[in-house]
Amino acid sequence: MKKRILLLAGGQSGEHEVSLMSARSVLGALPRDQFDVTPVVISKQGRWLPPTETQRALESGEAATGGDLVLHRVASAEGYDAVFPLLHGPMGEDGTVQGLLTLAGIPFVGSGVLGSSVSMDKVMTKQVLASAGIAQVEWRLAVRREWQQTPDAVRARAAELGFPLFVKPANLGSSVGISKVGTPDELDGALNLAFGLDRRVILEAMTSHKPREVEVGILGNDAPIASPVGELRFDAEFYDYETKYTEGRATMHIPAPLPPEVAARVQAAALTAFRALDCAGLARVDFFYVEETGELLLNEVNTMPGFTTTSMYPKLFEAAGLSYSELVTRLVGLALEER
Ligand SMILES: Nc1ncnc2c1ncn2[C@@H]1O[C@H](COP(=O)(O)OP(=O)(O)O)[C@@H](O)[C@H]1O
Ligand SMILES: [Mg+2]
Repeated sequence: MKKRILLLAGGQSGEHEVSLMSARSVLGALPRDQFDVTPVVISKQGRWLPPTETQRALESGEAATGGDLVLHRVASAEGYDAVFPLLHGPMGEDGTVQGLLTLAGIPFVGSGVLGSSVSMDKVMTKQVLASAGIAQVEWRLAVRREWQQTPDAVRARAAELGFPLFVKPANLGSSVGISKVGTPDELDGALNLAFGLDRRVILEAMTSHKPREVEVGILGNDAPIASPVGELRFDAEFYDYETKYTEGRATMHIPAPLPPEVAARVQAAALTAFRALDCAGLARVDFFYVEETGELLLNEVNTMPGFTTTSMYPKLFEAAGLSYSELVTRLVGLALEER
């Protein structure tokens, strides 16, 4: 019997279009002799689109509008064996959709409510990973109300970290709302930008030198494996939105040219993080490697990483001998696994 799979794509975050691209790749790769796949595109307004509009959105790759309220549609998701929530960012990768599917009793690809929500939040991630003994940059939390009522307290907290520093909304992605703050006079603008997007903001010390950015894929549930390590290289102050999504701005190096001992440290720390955060199925774990000092600092854990055929996560496992099509098949298998 073929498995019936519901593929959710699009979604309400700034990564709507990226998700549509990933979904097209997954649709083309799930073997048709094993799976019956129904795609549903979620509009930027959070409505689930009917088949014709879904098809149109997938073909054009553009943000879709219209559709039905989610609660009308989740009931119709009941006939599926599993859901592949190929959604990035808030309202998709953050435990919200995972909670809905858990309530509906439908198995799904990737982390559950806890792993998704903790990994999405940069502050919670740092707290959990610190308790697991994983090295990270120094950081501080600030909330919007403090910034409105006692801005000097927030400025003082930033000054403790020194300049340059990074200011980031706690719960976004794709570098949206992130600033590299070179001097104190740039701080207010960065904080206003971040607090315009999130109630909670994280202030982060800059690594001591411009770091190398290395990433590793994790695959599995309670016995996860790590892929080879990859590296991103780009010519920009930091890996901002434009550099991420402009063709040709960044290059991927797999395997990363690293001493084997460093690559092994990356893999071990990523597996520890995956377990500590209660992730499942898949995750891409991103690190800063400061070559000058040998420091390896965990930056973030993405529980639904970019998933086109040319994205880092599938490419990392391809280097380990797992084709894109085998990888998505394995992920559905992990969703169906008894845990
Ligand atoms: N503390 C830091 N030190 C040095 N570079 C940083 C630091 N934090 C972020 N960056 C740069 O900013 C980019 C985006 O930050 P990140 O936390 O990964 O945000 P997102 O979740 O949006 O991808 C990183 O890939 C890196 O280039
Ligand atoms: Mg990142």
